[in-house]
Amino acid sequence: MCGIIARVGDGDALGEILGGLRNLEYRGYDSAGVALRTEDGIDVYKREGETDALVDAIGDRTPDGTVGIGHTRWSTHGAPSDANAHPHTDDEGRVAVVHNGIIKNHESLRRELRADGHTFTSETDTEVVPHLVSRELAAGADPETAFRRAVDRIEGSYALAMVVADEDAVYATRSGSPLVLGLGSAANYLASDVPAFLEFTDRVVYVEDDEVVVLDGAGYRISDPDGETVERAPETVEWTAGDAQKGVYNHFMRKEIDEQPVCLRQTVDGRLDVEGRADGGEGGGGTPVLDALPPGELSGIANVVFVACGTSYHAAMYGCVLLKRLGIPATAMPANEFAHDPMPVGDETLVVAVTQSGETADTLASLRAADASPARTLAVTNVVGSTAARMADDAVFIRAGPEIGVAATKTFSSQVATLAMLAERLADDGAGVGATTPGGAAVSEAAGWSASLASLPDLVETVVEDGGAARLAEAYADAEAYFFIGRGTGYPVALEGALKFKEITYEHAEGFAAGELKHGPLALVTPATVVVAVFTGRNDDVTLHNVREAQSRGAPVLGVGPASSTAARDAVDEYLEVPDADPELVGVLANVHLQLLAYHAAAIRDRAIDKPRNLAKSVTVE
Ligand code: F6R
Repeated sequence: MCGIIARVGDGDALGEILGGLRNLEYRGYDSAGVALRTEDGIDVYKREGETDALVDAIGDRTPDGTVGIGHTRWSTHGAPSDANAHPHTDDEGRVAVVHNGIIKNHESLRRELRADGHTFTSETDTEVVPHLVSRELAAGADPETAFRRAVDRIEGSYALAMVVADEDAVYATRSGSPLVLGLGSAANYLASDVPAFLEFTDRVVYVEDDEVVVLDGAGYRISDPDGETVERAPETVEWTAGDAQKGVYNHFMRKEIDEQPVCLRQTVDGRLDVEGRADGGEGGGGTPVLDALPPGELSGIANVVFVACGTSYHAAMYGCVLLKRLGIPATAMPANEFAHDPMPVGDETLVVAVTQSGETADTLASLRAADASPARTLAVTNVVGSTAARMADDAVFIRAGPEIGVAATKTFSSQVATLAMLAERLADDGAGVGATTPGGAAVSEAAGWSASLASLPDLVETVVEDGGAARLAEAYADAEAYFFIGRGTGYPVALEGALKFKEITYEHAEGFAAGELKHGPLALVTPATVVVAVFTGRNDDVTLHNVREAQSRGAPVLGVGPASSTAARDAVDEYLEVPDADPELVGVLANVHLQLLAYHAAAIRDRAIDKPRNLAKSVTVE
């Protein structure tokens, strides 16, 4: 959803900014551009396409400059084109600006500026900013004042960075879009996300909404809207530069699929008390340890509402099933639905925002809606310092490390593992007490998933090493459509399998609750469609009815499920097995096969696996 970077310091700015843009391409790759402060003023280079196209456009002209800004775009206002690429400048080319977000009142500002004699060369909302600044400069304001006054005029969401001719400085601010300061030894950086400068520094300061940051030869200064200096101690991020690089892999997605055992170990490390549970768990022993939520903290919670988007929404749905197993009423809503049409919540409701990036606009909007209610809020996120982590009452981190591939993989597994621990924490605190299942029995007791979670990384490793999905991707490459079905925890996994498949192969893929197939979608099932059935070891006999319904219409059925599920294995045409495990966690293992199925199917079709068309990783507009 657009990535911005700025750099001020000693040495070559261009190389570092281009490297940073490559690391931010997961946020958008419709166009790329840089503006460098040179002896003559400001040099701007920009091109439609990925950073490589920009590098070609710059060619042998390697402008010197130690100060600059850069941008990689996911189009909102105006098609992908050279003209709409950032940075945008004023009429004289003395002010250059990069922007991530949306300026809602750009049309009225454009009219006002045109009436003042300003001309525009792009269709973007962003272009009003350099013109607003240049008008203030012409009126005698210094660059920082001009920047502040321009920002005061705009409405919407933004992270902005600006360079002006004659000043070795960068001016930046944010409101609703991410911006993080990186403190290096030879240079300081500002960017939408840490991987942009992780090669140079892991010391960061998270910028808050409405603060203004000035980077110059003297270092950096953060100030509040009144201009008062803000002191904030730098933090050290735990990610390493290697985490954000492909290494020996062709694609980040494949690297991130393979990383899942390591990530899951990080997710659960120090949080599981397997022995405590075996001993009966006295005084909190046996309860997963989540720092933000000490034992007893969640005792007043009667019900849980998850809000999330895309893959995180599927993880949230999975979490919902786990909570229901423990007798805790829970529901999951697409975040944009909750934001504009919230369900009733009270002071006994925990609203859990599940978001890898912590910056998804829809999810932040639903957190804002929850904030305006008596409900308590919790962010389950991968990014320390993200907006969601700071907005919610509490935050639990999934510790998956940076995920660069646009298609989320390792973060799904780590989200589900985190939600399983959260579910146990809630149950151990007595959350949802009094709720009964339709059968009438109170079921609010902890499930003892800790031991299963502890072995999950090793089990995932065996699936990652299995080559079965690659063979099936090849064998069924000619199908007209792919339908994924599952029940219980297998249902969100079916949805996730279909999402992964469609987003990187561009083939028609849909996920359904297995029992829903016969209520409409079956009309689409023919010998030319493939049905992928997820088995978890729980209620598989019912899923097998649905499998037979598809088979009797001639569809080949691929099953994914536990090694010991012979009935499932015998019923389907092909079977991808996962090690036997707790039925509630089998879905995480099955999902790894589905990730690999999508990956190999996309590779056969020669798709842009890490950067699928029209998509961006971090969707920071509603
Ligand atoms: C799909 C995918 C997206 C994200 C969604 C939410 O592979 O990655 O569907 O899951 O945009 O993003 P986060 O989790 O950052 O809120």
